[in-house]
Amino acid sequence: MAIPPLPPYSTIRCIGKTVEILDQRYLPFELSFIRLTDLQQVADAITTMAVRGAPLIGVTAAFGVALAMEKDPSDQSLAQSLTLLARTRPTAVNLHTALHRIACHLQPLPPEERCHAAWSFAESLLLEDARATEAIGDFGLPWIAQCHALYPGRPVTILTHCNAGWVATCGIGTALAPIYRAHAQGIPLRVIASETRPRLQGLITAWELTVAGVPVELVADNATAWLLARGEIDLILVGADRIARNGDVANKIGTALKAYAARIHQVPFLVAAPTSTIDLTAADGSTIPIERRSPDELTYALGLSPPHSASHPQSVRLYPADLKAGVNPAFDITPAAYITAIITELGEIRGDALSDLAEWLSTHRSSSDR
Ligand code: MRU
Repeated sequence: MAIPPLPPYSTIRCIGKTVEILDQRYLPFELSFIRLTDLQQVADAITTMAVRGAPLIGVTAAFGVALAMEKDPSDQSLAQSLTLLARTRPTAVNLHTALHRIACHLQPLPPEERCHAAWSFAESLLLEDARATEAIGDFGLPWIAQCHALYPGRPVTILTHCNAGWVATCGIGTALAPIYRAHAQGIPLRVIASETRPRLQGLITAWELTVAGVPVELVADNATAWLLARGEIDLILVGADRIARNGDVANKIGTALKAYAARIHQVPFLVAAPTSTIDLTAADGSTIPIERRSPDELTYALGLSPPHSASHPQSVRLYPADLKAGVNPAFDITPAAYITAIITELGEIRGDALSDLAEWLSTHRSSSDR
């Protein structure tokens, strides 16, 4: 099958029978790409967060299976590749759903047909995700347009957390997709990106919006409640890593505190995610596995030394060696009760519908197939 053209902001692409990804570890200091040529390299790229963001790691994992099938398309190799990739990161369900879907597609096939089928399937997941981000942009845009209509004399101010932009997907992003749509329509914007300690994914958000010409400011994670109290934020828009059947949302650590503060200050709190992020097997947020990462992520940070140099970024120690960093959960759960709406590629989920996503999906999936 011919490799279809990729969307303009592509973070992943096939070059022959290899996969090239944007290496996110040194963003926004350095823009570099790495070539993945076998299954183990794909697993390592996901674990080390060279590639990150829920939708993107799902698609990358599917390409990992294709690389494994290239070497050995046997049942045993297929099973081993699925096990290895499933162990890379536990919380983002897109990874596990992508593995489940590719497994269901390949298992019934004779081994000699699996390699070709795996590449085609991974490509189709990539395009599906790219299309979903476009639709999320369309469904989220009215929220921003309404704020603009309410306050025409000033920019619409949107707070986002972590990075849920094009860097984290195969298209234009999830939380940032409505922002890109609004910017393209000429709506004046002010985006506030919280830094997102410890890995500082907020810097990636600030970088990608700056490159796109969208006004953006970085703030400390702890500034949110103060900014909300001063009426400086019109909307909060975040992505998601797994959404339970009752509408509870797992997203980057620090998301829940923003939702609680938004409720107190009566600011809409919106989650933007493709329906591949919904896990109907998770009854509520308490059943979602939360990844705990190394305390080293708290102890070290990437920076330039000296600060204004153009050198390669260095890892610097933030605490003296005898002070110990503790638990480092990568995600938290925002209860559905604190979410104003979830914006998906099939439409917006709000009100009573938020408490039963199985019911909502069954009606919206069937109407989208018609
Ligand atoms: O640990 P990360 O950087 O992979 O976490 C990413 C997030 O929490 C994002 O908000 C989420 O995956 C949505 S990305 C479109």
